[in-house]
Amino acid sequence: MRAKQHHMWNALSLGVCYYPEQWDRSMWRNDLQRMKGAGLFTVRVGEFAWALLEPKEGLFDFSLFDAFLDLAEEEGMQVIFGTPTAAPPAWLTEKYPETLNCRIDGTPYRHGMRRHYNYNAPVYREKCSIITERIAAHFARRPCIVGWQIDNELNCETDEFYSEADTAAFRTFLRKKYGTLERLNAAWGTVVWSQAYADWKEVHVPRLTIHHTVNPHEMLDYCRFVSESCISFCGLQADILRKYLKPGDFITTNGLFGRLDNHRLTDETLDVFAYDSYPNFAFLLGKDPNRPGELNDRRWSFHLTEVRSVCSHFAVMEQQTGANGWNTRMEAPAPKPCQLMLWTMQSVAHGADYVSFFRWRTAAVGTEIHWQGILDPDNRDNRKLAEVAQVRDRTMKIRRAAGADYSAAVGLLRDYDNLWDTEADVRHRRLAEASEAAIFEACQLSHTPLDMTDLRDVTEDCELSRYRALFYPHPLILTEARAKVLRAYVEEGGALIIGALAGQKDLQGRCVTVPMPGLLAGLTGTSVSESTFIGPADETSRVIWNERPFPSGIWNDVLKAETPDTRILATHAGDYYAGEPALTERRIGKGRVIHFGGTFEPELTDALLEHLGLRDPFGEVIGLPGICELAVRENAKERWYFVLNYGRQPAEIVLLRPLTDADDDAEVSGVMKLQPFETKVFRESKA
Ligand code: GAL
Repeated sequence: MRAKQHHMWNALSLGVCYYPEQWDRSMWRNDLQRMKGAGLFTVRVGEFAWALLEPKEGLFDFSLFDAFLDLAEEEGMQVIFGTPTAAPPAWLTEKYPETLNCRIDGTPYRHGMRRHYNYNAPVYREKCSIITERIAAHFARRPCIVGWQIDNELNCETDEFYSEADTAAFRTFLRKKYGTLERLNAAWGTVVWSQAYADWKEVHVPRLTIHHTVNPHEMLDYCRFVSESCISFCGLQADILRKYLKPGDFITTNGLFGRLDNHRLTDETLDVFAYDSYPNFAFLLGKDPNRPGELNDRRWSFHLTEVRSVCSHFAVMEQQTGANGWNTRMEAPAPKPCQLMLWTMQSVAHGADYVSFFRWRTAAVGTEIHWQGILDPDNRDNRKLAEVAQVRDRTMKIRRAAGADYSAAVGLLRDYDNLWDTEADVRHRRLAEASEAAIFEACQLSHTPLDMTDLRDVTEDCELSRYRALFYPHPLILTEARAKVLRAYVEEGGALIIGALAGQKDLQGRCVTVPMPGLLAGLTGTSVSESTFIGPADETSRVIWNERPFPSGIWNDVLKAETPDTRILATHAGDYYAGEPALTERRIGKGRVIHFGGTFEPELTDALLEHLGLRDPFGEVIGLPGICELAVRENAKERWYFVLNYGRQPAEIVLLRPLTDADDDAEVSGVMKLQPFETKVFRESKA
């Protein structure tokens, strides 16, 4: 059972990221006053200021932040202080080069960027403990402090660590896990290609190999190790901060990055999780933004869904306000009028109760001069500041939505073992990415709110039972404990939907030697008789369901019904397995399990939602076109409907029963026109 989140906001609120060290002190008060004018009452500071806070080893200087915090207190502002460990000072990495992270070939990353350290060098951990302890002891009792951010974006920039300190720690991790090399060799299948280890000194973090091919079972353990290292590094700082924290203040960290079990990180080290949301990154993904159905910035709702699975009522510590770009990389356009509001509402709709904009003013120096903040370096009032003030007005109107839950009856199940298995198994990755994107797209376009939920051996079925259906598209890795929870979920009334290759592997990523879907076969009442990738020269893979053809993706499993109560819903339509079962359903207890021998495409997902009676659950309240997202948050008394128009064109929606427009408290119903990028929030009391 997951721990309850420790910190909750009791009203929606806004803040901003600020770097007092980058601006002349004479500007600070005016900045703070203008922030307040725009409704931004909290500032995050400090997260990259180590070289100022400890200019020489053991010599501390807190004067700049003392002066800034004095002013913040005079102005009645709140402060979130960041531990500065994402950017070690030059003296540190010069004197202790073992603290540097390395490329896979062992070349160290040098001073001059950020996040160039590793989590495992004992001296780095010691130096981070010292600076954390010193700033916590000095600042934590100040009245303006409301929370702490640990480091900055753990595992951002890179989530690969190849220093000698990492190899030493990896060996310790593996010794603890396996005890003996015999057991490690068996787990990693080192019988293949003469990879066996006879001495612990022969075991390393992944190194340069031909085709960058690493033993897949080792890779899985390496991802677990990176996550473990990161959690322990964050925990080290959290334990120190907790000694000094004022009652009510919180500990968080920001961002959602790879090779990190963010659920464990949150449960074990944080009070609340914070995300950094930059929706216009969508234009850097190499996708065609004009493809029909392409979700672009709306895709960020997928990440926000993931964040919500980590922490239901989260913060956005950095919300995009301008064009993105470093001088060296990344190019994304500025938000157009109304998009700043749109993206903030996107965050709030998905569960953010605190949103902090990045950043107050665009940097005038350094790598991020093209990464725009609210203000430009010229410091004049501008269109974006005016839009922030509109966000403030809206936020005030809906502030009671803080703590209200996102309402979803459909869930996407995930687990870190399968996620990390996709790092070495590219086929698994293609399947997982294609199906998750399609399920998300189908839910978005049909206005079927979707949650994500994390499955692990200690998950209890009551954690799943709030969902009427769970898609678990490609759980290649399964464990007995997880199969048991899934069975209980189905027996108690849930609908479980699995796809191709489910049940192929064990926890180490080794293939099981029984028919697929392995540990789920007893539930599905099926077996897989053939399994194939769909190559470019193959017929498009399709299945026929109720005489309608549906694309079935990039991988096909040919299914066989193994029990009389396994109903065949659809059959494959092409190739040598035409007519063979492709989609089956079996009722178990009060629920059912659906087995699909393909990867999920939006069309089939949509039909499955319809089949389960779960498509468009708020269709009787609001009718809206595909271009608009609908999200609903509710508590015991009220429900808030967020309607987000991502389109450059006006969109027409229909309120099928009277609702209250949250902006002016007027009762509204019938047809309404939303302007390009316009958002609406409607409120409804629960009888
Ligand atoms: C985030 C980071 C910020 C800033 C921003 C723009 O990832 O946390 O410090 O760098 O991106 O690059």
